[in-house]
Amino acid sequence: MVIDNRITVALTGASGSPYALALLKALVRHKQHIWLLVSDAAREVIRLEMGQTLPANHEQTEHYFRHYCQDTTGAIRLLANNDWSAPPASGSGAPTRMVICPCSMGTLAAVACGLSNNLIERAADVAIKEQHQLIILPREMPLSPLHLEHMLKLARLGVVVMPASPAFYHQPQSVQDIVDFVVDRLLKHLGLAGILPAWGV
Ligand SMILES: Cc1cc2nc3c(=O)[nH]c(=O)nc-3n(C[C@H](O)[C@H](O)[C@H](O)COP(=O)(O)O)c2cc1C
Repeated sequence: MVIDNRITVALTGASGSPYALALLKALVRHKQHIWLLVSDAAREVIRLEMGQTLPANHEQTEHYFRHYCQDTTGAIRLLANNDWSAPPASGSGAPTRMVICPCSMGTLAAVACGLSNNLIERAADVAIKEQHQLIILPREMPLSPLHLEHMLKLARLGVVVMPASPAFYHQPQSVQDIVDFVVDRLLKHLGLAGILPAWGV
């Protein structure tokens, strides 16, 4: 059972913004309180993949995500990438769960090396040092030895590495079905009800 219903969700510049937006929608439905982080590259990927240009203004960007996710209660709170005073930046304030979805190879490398150069990297560093749940959804193809070494390093630290690898045994009929498969796996790892029925049950 999940006691802390706060969660940090970071969107970075790998392909896969439909996963991120579907995850945010599901978390809102699950009444989670979301600290949202969006890298500059993620904004560009959202523009190209979703045909949506995020506003430059902080409040308007937050409003965009709340509106998109039908968040009527202000569950989504957007943080600036240099807001070092925000709860996810500190072990004493961070939620016990964090997801980086999608996770670029750049952010993956920075987290694996503990760089903490922006709030996404710092929040992940905090999650690792506090032994909180950290899930990353990397996306790249093919994977170089560097990418694989970073993933192995993180997996050995207890980070759950969930590549965006949809399966097809549920016979998806649409892109949304494919997205839902991945988001379902994420939700179940977070201790929340998924979107799809459990396989074989
Ligand atoms: C349309 C688009 C798709 C991209 N897809 C990927 C990707 O799948 N994986 C990846 O690691 N980087 C991808 N990139 C490159 C990253 O966005 C870039 O390395 C960026 O510096 C990552 O910054 P961030 O980690 O701060 O978000 C993509 C960039 C664009 C514009």
